[in-house]
Amino acid sequence: HSKMIIDADTGIDDALAILAALKSGKADLAGITTVFGNIPVEMATDNTLRLLKLAGFENAIPVSQGASRPLARGVEFATHVHGKNGIGDVELPASSQAAVEEPADDFIVRTADELGGELVIVSLGRLTNVAQALRKDPSLPSKVKHLYIMGGAVRVPGNVTQVAEANIWGDPEAAEAVMQSGMAITLIGLDVTMRTLLHQSDLDRLQRTCKPENRAVADFINRSMQYYFEFYRQSNGFEACAPLHDPLTVLAAIEPGLVAMESMRLSVECEGRHCIGMTVADLRNRPAVGQPVQVGVEVDAERAVNALMAIF
Ligand code: BDR
Ligand code: CA
Repeated sequence: HSKMIIDADTGIDDALAILAALKSGKADLAGITTVFGNIPVEMATDNTLRLLKLAGFENAIPVSQGASRPLARGVEFATHVHGKNGIGDVELPASSQAAVEEPADDFIVRTADELGGELVIVSLGRLTNVAQALRKDPSLPSKVKHLYIMGGAVRVPGNVTQVAEANIWGDPEAAEAVMQSGMAITLIGLDVTMRTLLHQSDLDRLQRTCKPENRAVADFINRSMQYYFEFYRQSNGFEACAPLHDPLTVLAAIEPGLVAMESMRLSVECEGRHCIGMTVADLRNRPAVGQPVQVGVEVDAERAVNALMAIF
């Protein structure tokens, strides 16, 4: 059966996505790889290790650290979105687990080899680790069962620029290499994540309904989400709610049918003046050239939020 690697730049919504995968019982995690993005990669690794401990998985799942910068550009972080420590400035106890020696790209290549076509990758940050794994093993696309990507904005505005979503904007060369690799890809972008909003009322309900063993996890989710709500209030005028970018991507991987897909040819703009990091879809009514990807276009947001809360 399939095993999953989650690749994350462990910020607030990555944290919720990882906790959901761990607690769902539907994702058999082969490992978590980390990448720069919301925060520096060392901080993403540290947050990931602390989350594993919080969820009762300390020393149970390997964590492998990956890229500290994009393939071809300078690095920028998003601490104004996720807090100084990346998880809404909530302090979690340190873990006794250390990251494995093997870097993320090698970890991905080796795991794909060992699993004989049963590896599913869920990418929640910049695609740098996956692109580097592709460089090391160009036959990777035939060995990976499916790659779910949180990223892109196809028919909707971007969130870093008018047209670019953060995970693609943060390493467009990596995203373009992955998009053209021929890997089986599902893109969960802002088209669906901006419509999947978690409200304070959902968090209040979670505090009442969570299983006794998930009380500390539910408390962390509630506290870290306050920071995210405040960011979305300031930037988008949202009232006590925030979009579930990374959690929806994990849900799409474990609950087929939750997000409706359309098949599209996609390119990532790497050279534009205004459009760097744009996911450019060929929406013309003509036969596709090259390998299309599945793009999330519709979501039953209420079902998604309820499914997420029910995990805990
Ligand atoms: C994406 O960017 C990051 O800030 C979030 O964790 C998410 O992966 C949303 O654009
Ligand atoms: Ca992320």
